[in-house]
Amino acid sequence: MESRSVTGRLSITVNGQIRDVSGGRAHTTALEWLREGGLSGSKEGCAEGECGACAIMVARPDGSDGTAWTAVNSCLLPVAALDGQEIVTAEGLATPGALHPVQVELAERGGSQCGYCTPGFACSMAAEFYRRGRGTSVPPTDAAGLDGTDANSEHGPNGFDLHALSGNLCRCTGYRPIRDAAYALGEPEAGDVLAARRDRPTAGPTATVVTAPDGTFIRPATLAEAVGLLAEHPEAVVVAGSTDWGVDVNLRGRRSPVVIAIDALSELRGLDVGPDVVHIGAAVTLSEAERALAGRVPLLAGLFPQFASRLIRNRATFGGNLGTASPIGDTPPALLALDARLVLASSEGRREVALEDYFTGYRETVLRPGELILAVQIPLPLAPLCVFHKISKRRFDDISSVAVAIAIDVQNGVVRRARVGIGGVAATPLRARETEQALTGQPWTGETAAAAARVLGTEGTPMDDHRATARYRSAMLEQAMLKFYSDDTQGREAVS
Ligand SMILES: Cc1cc2nc3c(=O)[nH]c(=O)nc-3n(C[C@H](O)[C@H](O)[C@H](O)COP(=O)(O)OP(=O)(O)OC[C@H]3O[C@@H](n4cnc5c(N)ncnc54)[C@H](O)[C@@H]3O)c2cc1C
Ligand code: FES
Ligand code: FES
Repeated sequence: MESRSVTGRLSITVNGQIRDVSGGRAHTTALEWLREGGLSGSKEGCAEGECGACAIMVARPDGSDGTAWTAVNSCLLPVAALDGQEIVTAEGLATPGALHPVQVELAERGGSQCGYCTPGFACSMAAEFYRRGRGTSVPPTDAAGLDGTDANSEHGPNGFDLHALSGNLCRCTGYRPIRDAAYALGEPEAGDVLAARRDRPTAGPTATVVTAPDGTFIRPATLAEAVGLLAEHPEAVVVAGSTDWGVDVNLRGRRSPVVIAIDALSELRGLDVGPDVVHIGAAVTLSEAERALAGRVPLLAGLFPQFASRLIRNRATFGGNLGTASPIGDTPPALLALDARLVLASSEGRREVALEDYFTGYRETVLRPGELILAVQIPLPLAPLCVFHKISKRRFDDISSVAVAIAIDVQNGVVRRARVGIGGVAATPLRARETEQALTGQPWTGETAAAAARVLGTEGTPMDDHRATARYRSAMLEQAMLKFYSDDTQGREAVS
């Protein structure tokens, strides 16, 4: 990352024009800054990442010397985090005298009524319009499948992945005309400036310091600098994708005297599939991992499409999901079933901890003051049979009532090893150890699955809350095991 020490001279390229961000505050969101500066196309519907009315496109490195237009929620992103970067808002899509193709299709197919959601839909749709390989490759959500059905195979004849719109809500038009608009899009035409921009690299975020009355926002250039700052300011909040922190700032009024952005630190950005381990840097986003792994970790491939929305996954990181230590976070059950370990770093050095030892209580972990998560490591080989079930009220962009991840190794018809991770049924995500014992050493039969399901239904200490009753949660645990067995048996019958 380029290092520069700046206070009060920050800039963002917005719709091709450099704009000064001087005077920005540590907690001002990109949405607030855009609207205050007269770019009121991006709307605030919820200020918590749920509606997509605030979507904009950010130029992000595409992993091969080019640029990928990536749609994100501007309501969650601190504007200081965009210093040195390029963004496009709904105002920047059209060219003088000509609407953008997504605007043409939305207009012609009746995809907009009151129009409040439309700028956000247009930006999410444009990012997918510019996705390289759209139409020629099978996107990861298709490769993964979900729950043994093809419910996730939601692609238009033009390769448009409807998941691109999973974070955008419309209250009045109805989604069919919007989908029709998306599926009618062709390829970018010659002379399309945003398409051409993809061929040049993008710099990525720059090291930044914003000192303002509401706090200091620092983007350090290196991990050493970051952990040094954390040692100096143990009260600092570490921010990666800001999809949780942004909600805290907007809805809970949280402020921190020091905010340290770690999302661009190269030491946290690696993703590598080695002979013995899959290494995922803590600041790798869910979308980046989904693309880079391309189904090579099937449990995660099953998880990705069910995690929030594309807009959130484009910013949400593994480190952030584990950093919140939420009992209903989706990656912990999957990573527990994968026997993952965490690499932690502080100014005193690095240490490793098994994920099963990481959570110590409700939103409490073994992380010491001044320590952060550097990476997640998944040992190889993976258990051949696995599944991730998320039970929630909505299929997309919803929080788990219960999550269950199961990974088993069956040899000669006998379960040799079993790992079961569960979420939403205790103060922390858990390994369902009694269920694992009920499976291990047993023949992989309907009787074993039924017995294990009964045990799984008794694991954890589920509670009644507005998402689900304790009884429902236990029942869902049981069902997850039965469905796992049934899907496996049907899958094998279909092959033979
Ligand atoms: C609309 C919406 C839908 C969501 N849906 C889901 C969902 O389906 N499933 C789900 O699990 N979550 C969901 N979330 C929650 C959130 O997106 C995830 O927890 C995400 O992974 C957080 O990552 P982040 O990088 O944005 O974290 P941030 O917001 O940047 O940080 C979150 C917390 O983690 C800490 N942190 C960040 N990185 C590190 C690190 N490397 N080391 C130590 N601490 C760190 C921060 O200090 C902060 O306390 C949703 C959120 C929203 C707004
Ligand atoms: S305003 Fe609703 S997602 Fe940002
Ligand atoms: S057109 Fe009114 S909310 Fe979508």
